[in-house]
Amino acid sequence: MWSTYLDVVLLSHPVVAFLTVKHPNMHAKPSNLQYFIVSFVSLLLLRYAASTYFGTPEQISLAVCTTVDQPNPIASIYPNNATGTLNGTVAVIPISLKLARQLIPPQYGILEHAYRALLPTFPEGMYPAIVQALHDHEVQAFGYKIDDFTRTGIEFPFVDLLNDNHTSFKWAPSLLMAAGHEIALKGAGDYGTNTFPATFEPGCDAYRAVPKAKKPGTTSFSARSINSAESLTTLFSSTQEEMFPLSFFKNFTNQPTFADGKTCDNMIRLFNTSLTTAPNRIERVMGTVRANIHPFAGEQEWKGVYGLRMATAFIENNYLNCEDFRGYGDP
Ligand SMILES: *[C@@H]1O[C@H](CO)[C@@H](O)[C@H](O)[C@H]1NC(C)=O
Ligand SMILES: *[C@@H]1O[C@H](CO)[C@@H](O)[C@H](O)[C@H]1NC(C)=O
Ligand SMILES: *[C@@H]1O[C@H](CO)[C@@H](O)[C@H](O)[C@H]1NC(C)=O
Ligand SMILES: *[C@@H]1O[C@H](CO)[C@@H](O)[C@H](O)[C@H]1NC(C)=O
Ligand SMILES: *[C@@H]1O[C@H](CO)[C@@H](O)[C@H](O)[C@H]1NC(C)=O
Repeated sequence: MWSTYLDVVLLSHPVVAFLTVKHPNMHAKPSNLQYFIVSFVSLLLLRYAASTYFGTPEQISLAVCTTVDQPNPIASIYPNNATGTLNGTVAVIPISLKLARQLIPPQYGILEHAYRALLPTFPEGMYPAIVQALHDHEVQAFGYKIDDFTRTGIEFPFVDLLNDNHTSFKWAPSLLMAAGHEIALKGAGDYGTNTFPATFEPGCDAYRAVPKAKKPGTTSFSARSINSAESLTTLFSSTQEEMFPLSFFKNFTNQPTFADGKTCDNMIRLFNTSLTTAPNRIERVMGTVRANIHPFAGEQEWKGVYGLRMATAFIENNYLNCEDFRGYGDP
């Protein structure tokens, strides 16, 4: 970034000097040429120093933001695909089917029979909305790696985008996303997602341990939009209770995802890499989610929310024709 800035200054420097020399009032001063040479040489030295010490922009931000995340274990297996790791918490927020019906665009059905097939005891009249609070790490393709970023939002799985009463899609209308990460913000915006540039606590990791917490394994995460009222915070503790089976999480996290429905995102989350086996593990958690984010009106709080704290590797295929996912995941 600094190098680019200095390059621009250096390029425009002769133009500035030319104008200065041409200016009638300045013309009288004999020191103009000297001033021009001295400042040009100084800038040249600064430019040289910038490229020597800072190198590429990625190295600058890595220097101010280091994560403890494990490396992407599948980058070398799929070098020509977008891969990365997602570390964070995924949890199920039961809301009434009536509210879900109001929030999900009316042209799309809700595949209640599809989630009941996976969760036969899920309470009557309820729908499983999803919260994801994730740190994207070592996202790359063709050897080009982008900076890590964090994002969070509430998503709506088991949506009948194709009106076939069968294929489940996940509607992800809004995301709080790392402010300044133009690649990630544009990437999500191109799906029609409402993106809210945000700051996160912690800034460079998935969550943070809460010191001296009463319950074991308590961690926090918070996101705040930098120029609007949107926010999302979570507080989760370890639990032994398995409210929802892992197969349910595997199912909805792997549903093709859309926002405005023009294109679909095929995020394939892998639960069989080194990130989910010892010493890493998938942990069951229970806690509280507080959110003020579209499509919900105003601040919401949900207690007793069950989820998983984990890191998974992923392969992502972007901007695909949603129609091509008819029957996706069928045996
Ligand atoms: C996920 O993030 C947490 C919090 O920063 C960290 O303790 C853990 O090691 C990470 N897991 C992996 C597999 O990277
Ligand atoms: C990798 O990318 C290619 C080309 O886009 C795609 O056809 C293939 O399905 C992707 N691989 C996986 C495992 O998704
Ligand atoms: C959708 O499929 C389910 C399960 O096969 C069935 O019970 C239901 O009647 C179907 N709904 C419509 C509108 O066809
Ligand atoms: C891991 O799971 C994916 C599908 O979820 C599969 O394509 C891949 O072969 C599996 N890898 C191993 C090593 O079992
Ligand atoms: C999710 O489960 C449903 C059954 O309710 C199944 O039809 C679908 O293929 C599964 N989706 C994925 C992505 O595994």
